[in-house]
Order: sequence, then structure tokens, then C-alpha cells
Amino acid sequence: MSHLLPNLAILGLQWGDEGKGKLVDLVAGKFRNVVRFQGGNNAGHTVVVDGQSFALHQVPSGALHAGCFLVVGSGVVLNLEVFKQELDHLKERGIDVSSRLLMSEKAHIILPHHIALDRWREGGTSVKIGTTGRGIGPAYEMKAARMGLRLGDLKLPDCLADRIRQGYEEVCIRLGSTCDLPPLDVIVKDLLRIAEPILPFIGNTQEHLFDAWKKGESILYEGAQATLLDIDHGTYPFVTSSNCTLGGLFAGTGLPPKALDKIVGVGKAYTTRVGEGPFPSELKDATGQRIREVGREFGTTTGRPRRCGWFDAAIMAHACRTNGVDGLGLMKLDVLDGLPEVGLVTGYADGEGGVTRTLPSCAADWDQLKPVVKYFKGWTDSTRGVTELSRLPLEARAYLDALTEASETPIAYLSTGPERHEGFAWPGSFLESVLA
Ligand code: GDP
Ligand code: IMO
Ligand code: MG
Repeated sequence: MSHLLPNLAILGLQWGDEGKGKLVDLVAGKFRNVVRFQGGNNAGHTVVVDGQSFALHQVPSGALHAGCFLVVGSGVVLNLEVFKQELDHLKERGIDVSSRLLMSEKAHIILPHHIALDRWREGGTSVKIGTTGRGIGPAYEMKAARMGLRLGDLKLPDCLADRIRQGYEEVCIRLGSTCDLPPLDVIVKDLLRIAEPILPFIGNTQEHLFDAWKKGESILYEGAQATLLDIDHGTYPFVTSSNCTLGGLFAGTGLPPKALDKIVGVGKAYTTRVGEGPFPSELKDATGQRIREVGREFGTTTGRPRRCGWFDAAIMAHACRTNGVDGLGLMKLDVLDGLPEVGLVTGYADGEGGVTRTLPSCAADWDQLKPVVKYFKGWTDSTRGVTELSRLPLEARAYLDALTEASETPIAYLSTGPERHEGFAWPGSFLESVLA
């Protein structure tokens, strides 16, 4: 089988919001299929084209390209009301995806009691994760506990109440007197009403993708969240409830590893995190504040301010190894313009005068990490919109050279602004021919 383009995965390497949406949109025009494979409407992927901004939560970020077929894979959890709103918003702006959308019959539905449980927990006294409050964790929990509801179940309306009942009742018991959920029959009735316009899009996405792959059609896999939020390889328990790393791609599409050729890992030229949990390179000072303001680091989904810090190469090296990253999509370099110096975390003090790059498995140990920061001279010239390597300030080049060496991975794409045209495929990288 020969492919003109590599089947390509775009995965987040830090704590999310790296700019996956921008990169997916940028390359999606070349691909026939774009597939989301995990996460739900906790994701917020921003695409900016000609000054117009689109925030996509569950619809794949290839939506803006008329030739792009959009697939929602089996590993995704879906809020159908939000999904319909997304389709409507896109349509209002002239983008009708109805002839090029397929959603897996195996994908799970986020239900009102999932959202209620998520919010109840976050308001309680137990460990606060700082979730998006969208019911993501409980939806995946109920999936694993075999109490979930899948899109395919909607074909059997009479069975819905029975499928949902146990999970619903367990949540009602747990929430006790604070439970203000509607009765089960109302939830089912609402669900059927909300799902009605979605029904035509439900089908066998595994078969669709397999056929596409066999025909040599290129597939672009769009990750949501990121490596440090991965349920197994992230900063547990301060993580999301799916595998956002490479393994989740295969489980969440039903395709084999052979159906993937290249992996781009997306990271910012600094680091951000939204929600609770360890963040060794966090800057709680004026520099962190400046990065937040210049980078407009406020959540696409919840509007929460994002915590900001230096680029952490130990984390990036871990993420690149975990995902087998071929090249970095390095985003938002322009946000660092004008800083007198730029820090790079190369590892953590090992307590014996040396540096370790091994990441702990336990969140409590993460809090003990003492980052070792190497400082680089900043640059005064603007990098905003730069599209050629030779136009980058020398100081920025020096920073990027150190960053790639410490991350053990070359750059494939450098982003210098939110718009499609702001940035460039790194000369000699595999993305150069993809984007040519
Ligand atoms: P995602 O969740 O990984 O898709 O990222 P988000 O969309 O949540 O957040 C990334 C934000 O940075 C969005 O507002 C993008 O428009 C913006 N962005 C992406 N690349 C760049 C860049 O190179 N420079 C600047 N200044 N903004 C960027
Ligand atoms: P994208 O795809 C940034 C974070 C939440 C919280 C934790 C668990 O836009 O990069 P959840 O609601 O998933 O149970 O919350 O994960 N989180 C994200 N942070 N970007 C995201 O998605 C996120 N999705 C979840 O803030 O800390
Ligand atoms: Mg986001």
C-alpha cells in the first residue's frame, strides 16, 4: 500500500492547550480523514483563520476544510447537546459538515448524572482535581463499570432506561439530599430529543477508517488533552480519565499500529497547566503573569486562567519517549518575545549535587522536585508571524537549539502566531513535504 502522505498523529506533550487545534487545522487540508479518538468536551481546540476564531470541543479540527471527512472514534465520550450546538455554530458560520461526519456507535454518551457527580466531587472535601466539570471522569468510570450508554444504544430507545438505571441510582444515592437530578424517565426523554438530529451520523467508524487506510487515503489522528494528563502516564491523580498518549489512539479508533506512520508531539515554547496538580517549572511571579497575558492563557473551555511556567525539557523528553514522537510542533514562540531572559528546565536537583530527569510516579514526590533552570538571553525583535528560519533572532535560535537537544527530539514545525500562516515547517523535517 502506498500513501502520498504519512498517516499522522498530533498529540499533546504537556498539560494540554499546546495548540493542537492550530496544527491539526493547518495540515488537515491535505488529509482525507481526521479522527478524534479520546476525551470529550473537556477539550477546547482553537482554530484561527483570517481573524476568525473557532473553538472546537468535540468536532475534529479538520472541520474548516470542505474536503475533510470528520470521524469521532469509539474512545471519545460525547455530550450530545454540546455536539449539536457545535454543529449549529459551525453552520451559522457557513461550515456544514453534515455530509462528511461519522460518529462511532461505540462512543459513550455523557449523561446528566455524570456531570452532577463530577461537580459534586469537585465541590467536596476530597482531593480537588480542578476538572472542567463536564462529567468526563464519571462517563469513563461508568464505561469501565459497564454502566455506560453508547451512541449505538440510541437505536433501541426502549432499552435506554434499563441501561442507565443503575448508574443513575448510584449517583442519586451518593449525592443524597443534594441531588437535584430530574427523574430517570425525563432524562431518557430529553436524551432522545437531543439525540434525534445526531442519529444519521452514527455508524461503524472502525470499518470506515480501516477501508480508508486500505484504499491509501491518508488519516490524521487528533489527540485531545496531553501526556501529563494521561490517566496512566500523567501526574496522577491530577489527570483526565482517558489515555491521551499514543496507546489511546489505537484503542480509540480500532486501527492497528501499522495504520500510523508519523507522530508530531505538540508543545508550547513554555509550559501551562489549568487545574490542580504538580507543575515544577511554574512561575508564580510577574514573568508568569506576563506570559499569561501575552499568550492569552485563559481556558478555551472554562475560561480559567492557565498557570504558566518555563519550558520543562525533562517532561518533554518523557512525553516524546512515551509517544514515540518523530518531531515537535513547537508553538507560541512569539509569546516569549521581549523577555530579558528565557528559562529552560533541564532537569531536577537530585539532592547530591547532580541533575535527574526521571519523573516520579507519585504526585507527592512531584511536589518535592527542585527544577534546574538554565537561562538564555532573550530577544527584542518580534518573531510574530515569522515564516523562515533565517528570520529568527539569533538568541531565539540558541534557545531552540538547547530546547530540542534537551527534549531529545527535533522540531518539525515552529508556530509564531495563532493564524494558519504564522509559522513554518522546520527545514529538512518530514512535515516540510507534508505541508509543501
Ligand atoms: P489545544 O487545546 O491544544 O488545541 O490548544 P488551545 O486552542 O486550547 O490553546 C492554544 C491557544 O494558543 C489558542 O488560543 C491558539 O489560537 C493559540 N495559538 C496557537 N499557536 C499559537 C502561536 O504560535 N502563537 C500564539 N500567540 N498563539 C497561538
Ligand atoms: P485540550 O484538548 C487543558 C484538565 C482539567 C483538569 C484535568 C481533569 O484543550 O488540550 P477533566 O474535566 O478532564 O476530568 O479534568 O484535566 N483538562 C485540560 N487541560 N486542556 C485540555 O484539553 C484539558 N482537558 C482536561 O483542567 O485539570
Ligand atoms: Mg485546549
